[in-house]
Amino acid sequence: SDAAVVPALVIGTGYGGSVAALRLAQAGVDVHMVEMGMAWDTPGADGKIFANTTTPDQRSFWLRTKTKQPLSNFLGFPIDKAIPRYTGILDAEDFAGITVYQGRGVGGGSLVNGGMAVTPKRENFGEILPTVNADEMYNTFYPRANAELGVNMIRPAWFDTTEAYQYARVGRKHAQRSNFPYVFVPTVYDWNYMEQEAAGTVPKSALVGEILYGNNYGKKSLQKTYLSKVRATGRVTISPLHRVVDVRPATGGYKVTIEQLNTNGDPIAVKEVTAAKVFFAAGSVGTSKLLVKLKATGALPNLNGEVGKGWGDNGNVMCGRANHMWDPTGKLQSSIPTLGIDNWAAGGAFAEVAPLPTGIETYASFYLSITKTPNRAQFTWNAAAGKVDLSWQTAWKNVSINAAKTIFDKINSKEGTIYRTDLFGVYKIWGDHLTYHPLGGAILNRATDNHGRLHGYPGLYVMDGSLIPGSTVVNPFVTITALAERNIEKIIATDL
Ligand code: FDA
Repeated sequence: SDAAVVPALVIGTGYGGSVAALRLAQAGVDVHMVEMGMAWDTPGADGKIFANTTTPDQRSFWLRTKTKQPLSNFLGFPIDKAIPRYTGILDAEDFAGITVYQGRGVGGGSLVNGGMAVTPKRENFGEILPTVNADEMYNTFYPRANAELGVNMIRPAWFDTTEAYQYARVGRKHAQRSNFPYVFVPTVYDWNYMEQEAAGTVPKSALVGEILYGNNYGKKSLQKTYLSKVRATGRVTISPLHRVVDVRPATGGYKVTIEQLNTNGDPIAVKEVTAAKVFFAAGSVGTSKLLVKLKATGALPNLNGEVGKGWGDNGNVMCGRANHMWDPTGKLQSSIPTLGIDNWAAGGAFAEVAPLPTGIETYASFYLSITKTPNRAQFTWNAAAGKVDLSWQTAWKNVSINAAKTIFDKINSKEGTIYRTDLFGVYKIWGDHLTYHPLGGAILNRATDNHGRLHGYPGLYVMDGSLIPGSTVVNPFVTITALAERNIEKIIATDL
């Protein structure tokens, strides 16, 4: 085992981890980042780093022998297929009542997500993070996050004419005819690049359906933003295919135990590092699982009883609508959604008009709704099984279905259309078995203080989506980034 001492160790390379590493390094601190997934910097046999959604292969899923696509069926037929087991990019992590999709690799969720970069409306901020000063967030930290992430907007004139957003224009028309407010959603996709894709002057990525298993060109993942600045500091080392399994107090700080993995997911070496400060940024699920286990098994017994609590799914629920033959949604669909239907104030739902990039005309409109739901689950240590359980129940999604219906029942009735029943199984309307937006498990100002310092252990911090109590009202990564910027600024000013 390596005997090493580092001033700061960051667990995970998603949004929270990348923000922490950059600001610490800029403040002169040497940082070691540990990431269980792969580096995603080397092309595969096809010359591309990332696989396409239409042709999943071993790169696509984290340690599965069969794909587990969010849309499991099409026209009633199952579409999942066998793949070699590999440390691929998308983890569909199964708990008893829900499958939680997450990115695995250097860049975390930014590798696989839709790139929708939404700052919540100011009037809703109090229901997201009630103990955080909204003025500071909206004057300083949201603008900082938006600038660093490279958030930009589609050119409206291009949206109105391009074949690739026919599906979103149909979604807008139907929203308008039922009097729902619609909004253009900012994204981290480089819109100039997408226009060049459409013009045929650059290699295509959004316009050939790349998204869930990575995007080869136009999306500004963290690899192109925060993590490229992280590398430029020269103060940060990143260890991919290394998983943190233990953190406990030791002379000089904390002893961190790390397993090195091969691409089959098997541990091939165990390493120990002593770190003066440890930043948990393994994502809502990853951080919660670690903290709950470490408290229960005696490594960090003084963590308080809030650890593992307050987990929510951001109210995610999916559905499709079957359009009439005179409303085709297009054979070519950009994989980056950019239109939302906002019925939050009236019905508790914000719905994205999402693509179905199948390459054929489907006459379907597809939506991911973010809804208002009070249901919160808890992570607990299951000693018999040696793993962490989550108390989520599938029936809790009924609140979200009802909120989504405030939009789609009305649109269906106005348009004389019906729900699709073939996308999530045989005769199943709602995609209520999953979330893309895990949040909570180490809630700010409960499990930690109001800046992410874990109660009970000076020098341990939480930096990621686990700080947020279950909902961000819109898509979460801008809020996760902005909150991390706020917290790390305070920690650098007062704890170093
Ligand atoms: P994040 O999950 O990004 O990073 C955690 C990292 O830690 C991962 O790389 C993980 O492998 C690593 N890790 C975990 N345990 C570890 C351990 N023990 N040791 C070492 N490393 C460990 N959001 C949004 O705002 N707009 C959008 O359009 C979308 N779309 C979307 C689509 C899909 C398919 C998904 C799965 C998700 C989205 N999201 C999204 C959600 C968004 O990606 C998510 O909220 C953020 O990535 C969460 O950021 P964090 O920093 O909390 O963790």
